[in-house]
Amino acid sequence: MNSAFTREINSILSDFSQERGNLIPILQHVQEKFGYLPEEAIQAIADFLHVSSSTVYSVSTFYTQFKLTPLGEEVVKICRGTACHVRGGPTLQRDIERRLSIKPGETTKDMKYSLETVACVGACALAPVMIVNNRVYGKMTPKKVAELFNGKN
Ligand code: FES
Repeated sequence: MNSAFTREINSILSDFSQERGNLIPILQHVQEKFGYLPEEAIQAIADFLHVSSSTVYSVSTFYTQFKLTPLGEEVVKICRGTACHVRGGPTLQRDIERRLSIKPGETTKDMKYSLETVACVGACALAPVMIVNNRVYGKMTPKKVAELFNGKN
C-alpha cells in the first residue's frame, strides 16, 4: 500500500469510532473518495473495526451501491424507468452497448467508459435519458448518441 493511499484511508477512518455499525458509512466514504473499494481499503477497514476482511467483503458485495473494481473515466448511465423504456430506452442501451462493446456493469479495457443502468432519474420529460458523469442528456436519438461519442473520441 503506498503512503498517500494509507494517509487517505486513515483520514477517512479517523472520522469514525471503531464500532461495527460504522461499516457501511465507512464503505460509503471510501467509495466516494476512490470511486470504488480498493482491496487494500477492505483490509484496512477490517483491521480498524476488528472484523474479518471477509465480513467487510461480504457486506460490500451485498449492497449494489458498492463497487469492487475501479470505474472508467466516464460513467455512462442509461435510465431504465418506464418513461424512458417506452420512448426508446432499450434501443438507446443496445446502441451504447454496441459502441462501447460492454454490457451494464462492465468497464472498457482502456478504462475509459463504464456502463450502468439506473432507475428513473426524474427527468421523464426528456426521455429517453442517459447520464454521463452526472450530466443528463435527454431525448436521445442514435444521431445524438453518435455526436456525443464522436465528440469524445
Ligand atoms: S423514466 Fe427515465 S427519467 Fe424518468
